[in-house]
Amino acid sequence: MKASAPIKEILTTLHKKYGLVGREFEVENLVHCVRTGKHVLLEGPVGVGKTFLIAAVAELLGRAVVRVDGDSRYTEQKLTGWFDPPTVLKKGYGADSYFDGPLAQAMRNGSILFINELNRMPEGVQNVLLPALDERKIEVPRIGTLKAKEGFTVVASQNPREFVATSHLSEALLDRFELITLTYQAEAEERDILKGATTYRSAANDALLEWTLHFVRATRNSALFKRGASIRAGLSLYDIAQEMGGKWDDFLRATTLAIPTRVELSEEGLEQGVQKAIEQTAEQIKKKSRSP
Ligand SMILES: Nc1ncnc2c1ncn2[C@@H]1O[C@H](COP(=O)(O)OP(=O)(O)OP(=O)(O)O)[C@@H](O)[C@H]1O
Ligand SMILES: [Mg+2]
Repeated sequence: MKASAPIKEILTTLHKKYGLVGREFEVENLVHCVRTGKHVLLEGPVGVGKTFLIAAVAELLGRAVVRVDGDSRYTEQKLTGWFDPPTVLKKGYGADSYFDGPLAQAMRNGSILFINELNRMPEGVQNVLLPALDERKIEVPRIGTLKAKEGFTVVASQNPREFVATSHLSEALLDRFELITLTYQAEAEERDILKGATTYRSAANDALLEWTLHFVRATRNSALFKRGASIRAGLSLYDIAQEMGGKWDDFLRATTLAIPTRVELSEEGLEQGVQKAIEQTAEQIKKKSRSP
């Protein structure tokens, strides 16, 4: 597809070929930002589709993506680039002994730099991004100025503030990003995601699909959970339960595998423990779901 293709065409392809469900508004915003060389902060809870969305849009626009996963031990050199000591000994300091990190690589090639969980990066690393983002250049010691090729764009993701135990982004850094927020999708869309992702794996089990859908959604509204389960949790839950036999008891057993790692209990939930909180939520949705 042409990089300048109409957004409607992009959306149709994303829906039909990539299996994207909904997200028209977010895709449009993302494409407008990428096309104007703006940097984007994708904010949304775990498993809401941030990585999927940016990977699909970038591929469709024919844009290379360099990916970085933020963590608290990430260093400035690892992001920009570094001198390789053995090569420096042989050849001295120069372009030959300098190895590009993902930032330099993306700038040189005019690629999209996708930084997953930017807020988990140490402040020093976040600060390296400041000149890269607005002046589109970085200073590499002993080498000089590295200028970004046209097309260089940073797309960063972060989980919403209330869920983030780590640092928040500085005002200066936020000021250089456009914000696209992803929230949990509507019930009908989440049903379609489950349908789209699970039918090729196994014969459709509609009852199981409904239990899964209502269960993950119920965890998000329940007072027992501080952070509920995403659609990613739902996809896992469905797969395991179906593999076990696809009946209600299998569903219950699968929740104990697929859910505890993917939710956070509230004070109230903690009093009962995770298994009880899960069981209670499952019982509550059993009544609501269509029976097989
Ligand atoms: N709108 C959607 N259409 C189709 N599939 C979706 C959609 N949203 C999410 N998914 C599916 O849900 C799963 C989780 O999505 P993804 O990994 O992109 O989440 P994320 O927001 O990047 O999560 P994290 O914060 O953990 O990195 C993927 O398997 C993806 O295919
Ligand atoms: Mg992700």
